[in-house]
Amino acid sequence: MAKKQKITVYRCTECGHEEAKWLGRCPECGQWNTLNQTAVAATSAVLHGSPVESVPLSSIDPQEGTRIASGIAELDRVLGGGIMKRSAILVGGEPGIGKSTLLLQAAAASVTKGRILYISGEESAGQVRMRADRLGIDGARIELCCTGRLADITPLLEAVKPIIVVVDSVQTLHSDELGLVPGTVNQMKYCAWELISWIKEHDAALFLVAHVTKEGIISGPKALEHMVDTVLYFEQNDADSRFLRAAKNRFGSVDEIGIFTMGEKGLSIVEDPSLLFLVSREGELPPGVATAAVLEGTRALLVELQALTVPAKGSVSRVFADRVDTAKVSRIAATLEKHVGIRLSDHDLYINVAGGIRIGEVGVDLALAACLYSARTGLALPARTAIAGELSLAGEVRPVRRLSGRIKAAKSLGFESFVGPASDDEAGTGTVATIKQAIRLLFS
Ligand code: TYD
Ligand code: MG
Repeated sequence: MAKKQKITVYRCTECGHEEAKWLGRCPECGQWNTLNQTAVAATSAVLHGSPVESVPLSSIDPQEGTRIASGIAELDRVLGGGIMKRSAILVGGEPGIGKSTLLLQAAAASVTKGRILYISGEESAGQVRMRADRLGIDGARIELCCTGRLADITPLLEAVKPIIVVVDSVQTLHSDELGLVPGTVNQMKYCAWELISWIKEHDAALFLVAHVTKEGIISGPKALEHMVDTVLYFEQNDADSRFLRAAKNRFGSVDEIGIFTMGEKGLSIVEDPSLLFLVSREGELPPGVATAAVLEGTRALLVELQALTVPAKGSVSRVFADRVDTAKVSRIAATLEKHVGIRLSDHDLYINVAGGIRIGEVGVDLALAACLYSARTGLALPARTAIAGELSLAGEVRPVRRLSGRIKAAKSLGFESFVGPASDDEAGTGTVATIKQAIRLLFS
C-alpha cells in the first residue's frame, strides 16, 4: 500500500477542484480567487508524479545557497552580504527614487559569470539603453526584454537561463489567464509566484521592483511581502541622499542601512555617511545642539541632534519629534527633571535630527538628554564632543553595544572628547555613571 503523507494542494472553495499550484482562477468552474491552500493526506505521486522525499539535515551542502556580490557595497550590506541565490528580493520605493537605476547598476556590477535578464515593463529598450549609457554601463552581459507579459517571460527564462533576474516592475506583470489588466493584486501574486518558483528551481536570484506611493499604503506590493525572502525599501532622505533599508530579510539582519547619493552618473555610495548627519560649524556650538554616536546596524554614525524648548502653549506640554520616538523624548525629559532638577514638564519640546535620519537606537539617550538640557538652560555643549549612552529611569548611564566602534568613528571625524558609559577596552574617555555626572562634566 502506498504510504500516506500530508501534502499541500490548492482546493477551490466553489467546486472542490484541486490544483498542485496556486492559480488566480479555478480552471474547473472559472471562479476567481477561490483556490485555497489545503493540506491533504494523499500519495503525493498522484499530484506530483514522483513522491517528495526528505533528506538528512546533515547531508545538505551548506554552500548550496551561496551569495553573489552585487558589486555595490551598500546593497550587499543591506542584503546581509550579497545576493543570495534562490532568493526573491522585493525592492520598493516611490517612483523616481532610483530603483531602476540601482538595479541596473547592480546588474552591471554583479560579480558573476552568469547571465542577467532585465525585464522592463515600464520603459522601452531605448530608454533603458539611454540610462545604461548615462551610467557608463556597456551592458553586454545584460539581456533586456521589454514586456510585462508572463507568457513572454517564462520561455525567455528557459532560453537565457539567467542567474539574476530583474523585473521592473511587478505592477506591470500580467498573465493572460488572469485577464489583461496588470497591477491587480491577483496578477502580481500569480506572476510573482511563477517567477519565484522558477528562480528557486534554477539557482538564480530575483529582484522585483515595486512602486510604492507616498501614502505608503502599498496594498499591491505589500501582498507580495510574505512570498519573497527579502523586502528592501528605498527612501528619500531630507538631504540629497537615499537610504536603502531591509524591512524583512531571511538571510541577514534588518538593521543595516545602505546610504547613497544620486548624481549625474547614477547612485554612488557615501564614503563617510556621518558627514550627511553633521552640520559643519566654526567655533562654539549654539545651545540645544549635541552630537550622538549611534549605531545603525553594525555601523557607527555621528549624528547631530537639535533641541528646542519653549513654554507650553496649552495646559499640556507636547513633544514634537519625527526622527526620534516621542515617548523616548518624554521619558528622557522626565529623567532629567527628576535627577538633574530642571523643569521640562511645562515646556513644549522639539527634537530634530540633522540629515533626516530616524534614530531608534537606545544609545542616543544620553545625547538627547544633553541637547534638551542645553536648550532649556541656554548653555552650549563643548564643541567636538560626541556622546553615547542609554539612560535608565533611575538616572544611570547604561552601557551600549560596540562602544569602542563609536569612539573610533568619533575620533576619525575629529571629535576630541567622548562622553559615555564605562567600557573595559577604552581608557581616556569621559566615563560617566549617572545623568547627573554627565551633565556636570559636559556643562562645567
Ligand atoms: P529611476 O531609477 O528611474 O527611479 P525609479 O525606478 O525608482 O522610478 O530614477 C529616476 C530619477 O533619478 C530621475 O529623476 C532621474 C534621476 N537620475 C539621476 O539623477 N542620475 C542618473 O544617473 C540617473 C540614471 C537618474
Ligand atoms: Mg523605474
